Amino acid sequence: MEKDLNEKVKRSWNDNAASWVNAVRSEALESRRLVTNDAILKTVLRLNGQRILDVGCGEGWLSHKLMEAGHVVAGFDSSSELVEQARRRTDAKFFVLSYEEFARAPYSVGHDFDIAVCNFSLLGETIAPLLRSLHQVIRPAGHLLIQTVHPFTASEKLPYQDGWREETFEGFPGEWSAMPWYFRTMSSWMREVISAAWHIVEWQEPLHPVTGKPTSLILEAKH
Ligand SMILES: C[S@@+](CC[C@H](N)C(=O)[O-])C[C@H]1O[C@@H](n2cnc3c(N)ncnc32)[C@H](O)[C@@H]1O
Repeated sequence: MEKDLNEKVKRSWNDNAASWVNAVRSEALESRRLVTNDAILKTVLRLNGQRILDVGCGEGWLSHKLMEAGHVVAGFDSSSELVEQARRRTDAKFFVLSYEEFARAPYSVGHDFDIAVCNFSLLGETIAPLLRSLHQVIRPAGHLLIQTVHPFTASEKLPYQDGWREETFEGFPGEWSAMPWYFRTMSSWMREVISAAWHIVEWQEPLHPVTGKPTSLILEAKH
């Protein structure tokens, strides 16, 4: 069952690729425009790492910004459609690779990265193998950054417990097919990161400027 859901997650990013590219590049997503893009960029830049790995890079906006800022960037994603778009956008090195494939052969994307960034890209139930395998390509004293929907805001109308949910992309411009995704509570996120032998050193809860609610959670962890 979990395997089927994971496959559905991956498939949906190819199915929704055109709408996703349009939504990201036209800045149609308010939370990204007002809060979360800047929040993750500032966090990466503050850490002063040169070599960045963009995990679940999508259409490559973050890789592009980091390349512009003078970083060396590699990214990978299971969606061939989105990787194609990323390659057209910037000269970072991009790989069509699922997290499961990466966990079996981490060096295939390079090594000695200073920072791995997962920006809204951890959507499945089993993430520990990916998080553990990132140790092999991040240099000692390097960082792991995870930005995700804030667990409190995402559960206002639903029970606060881990489990699969469905994203229907309601309110997003364009045509979308629904995608399963795995909701985690705050403590569940902490547990996943800690159990993969990363040391959480900081977390941020960027607020929406109008509602005052936390828009996302950013976890910062070290080797
Ligand atoms: C919400 S998008 C975020 C993309 C990008 N990080 C950004 O900030 O725009 C989630 C991304 O995670 C990728 N993804 C989800 N599950 C994956 C998996 N098992 N292996 C590789 N990529 C995956 C999807 O293909 C998609 O590009």
